[in-house]
Amino acid sequence: MDARYRIRRATAADAAALAEIEHVCFSDPWSMVGIIETIQYATVYALVAENGESVAGYIMARISGEEGEILNLAVMPGHRRRGVARALLEAGLSAITLAGVREAYLEVRESNRAAVNLYQAFGFGPVGLRPNYYRNPLEDALVLRAALSVQETGT
Ligand SMILES: CC(C)(COP(=O)(O)OP(=O)(O)OC[C@H]1O[C@@H](n2cnc3c(N)ncnc32)[C@H](O)[C@@H]1OP(=O)(O)O)[C@@H](O)C(=O)NCCC(=O)NCCS
Repeated sequence: MDARYRIRRATAADAAALAEIEHVCFSDPWSMVGIIETIQYATVYALVAENGESVAGYIMARISGEEGEILNLAVMPGHRRRGVARALLEAGLSAITLAGVREAYLEVRESNRAAVNLYQAFGFGPVGLRPNYYRNPLEDALVLRAALSVQETGT
């Protein structure tokens, strides 16, 4: 990701920007009300990638003890293929690992090669299938899992 982007925690003030990203990136988007509610849970980690004043993408993860779930990850079309999603996923997984998560799960449309490629690069592999999980269009979800571990720093 180039230096014009920076990653920070999302707040309720970002909800409109996240709703816009949802609207542009997904055929079955989260509502702004749902985003505001979810962002405020203590067990939810939401990060945004910003470029100047505009929010280019975001990731949201939920933790439950040693288990974590990536709830959503999206990057606006004009900011894609610049490593923004990779940086968001790296930062999101680091944050939940530091919070004690040791395995992460997520669902992804079976046909979503871009996302599946990205997740595979982070060690996610298939552990299940949820038939007809998505709407608009109806599609199965792949369930992916990755083991997470704290990196030794040597210090
Ligand atoms: C999937 C998505 C988040 C990727 O965002 P991005 O910022 O463009 O991704 P990055 O630039 O960080 O790419 C990282 C890696 O992901 C994979 N990837 C990303 N876009 C890809 C594409 N169009 N085709 C194939 N692989 C792709 C590649 O492995 C890429 O590494 P590379 O650039 O070295 O080849 C973005 O396309 C998006 O928002 N899509 C719509 C929403 C979505 O599907 N979210 C995932 C829901 S589970």
